[in-house]
Amino acid sequence: MIRKCLFPAAGYGTRFLPATKAMPKEMLPIVNKPLIQYAVEEARDAGLQHMAIVTGRGKRALEDHFDISYELEHQIRGTEKEKFLAGTRELIETCTFAYTRQVEMKGLGHAILSGRPLIGDEPFAVVLADDLCLNLQGDGVLAQMIKLYKKFRCSIVAIQEVPRDQTHKYGVIAGELISEGIYRVNSMVEKPAPEDAPSNLAIIGRYILTPDIFDLIADTQPGKGGEIQITDALMKQAQNGCVLAYKFEGLRFDCGGAEGYIDATNFCYEQLYLKGL
Ligand code: UTP
Repeated sequence: MIRKCLFPAAGYGTRFLPATKAMPKEMLPIVNKPLIQYAVEEARDAGLQHMAIVTGRGKRALEDHFDISYELEHQIRGTEKEKFLAGTRELIETCTFAYTRQVEMKGLGHAILSGRPLIGDEPFAVVLADDLCLNLQGDGVLAQMIKLYKKFRCSIVAIQEVPRDQTHKYGVIAGELISEGIYRVNSMVEKPAPEDAPSNLAIIGRYILTPDIFDLIADTQPGKGGEIQITDALMKQAQNGCVLAYKFEGLRFDCGGAEGYIDATNFCYEQLYLKGL
């Protein structure tokens, strides 16, 4: 079954400059917890135990976050502040963390390919930590997708309906509805203008990928924006076999930009932090 989760976290985060000049975007806090921790918790809650993080220059803080800080922990031992580190400590104790560097930022597809040595020849999940997904009503988005994978055994992308004038920010799919909320993908277009978009079903930052995706990415030429796009490789996979798109249950905040980040902060403050969750 699926054991590993890949977190591509090597991007420059230019939409959040200057905050992201010396600090990874994935370390931006939503209230008091960094985005990467929400992402790892979602993966852990979906039953995944091995976390594989693709980092880049200036991303050391990610590794330090999932490590023990002896001095700090000694300092707060026995005080009520200890509880603030309990969640991180639990992740460190129950999951493994492995890292690799993407040396040149050649796009999401390339970042996923850089993670190949950490994943090997098995199906895996991909989480983009700057897309914060929360489902207070039930299973997290990745857990929902893993259930689906058990049934269909093929690559799955999470999708969301977006306003037509937003399609240029996403990979957009066209597909045939096979059951409620589940589409079999026929085509995918990266960041289409509204008039070229095949639908308003946009891919967000959650994927389940079968390992044949690696060879497909390796054969993919740079596409839109000169980057190696995961959507191009997924399109080949859809043509060769099957890729599903899944309209997930829950909320998604695009924390790579100010608006989504503020919405996520307000939501988490009211729904989680004030309730002590
Ligand atoms: P984004 O499109 O959000 O790019 O990448 P970005 O560089 O992080 O942010 P902006 O647009 O400049 O503000 C989507 C995800 O893919 C990762 C990013 O870290 C993010 O999680 N990524 C992107 C890589 O790991 N490597 C890349 O070369 C590109």
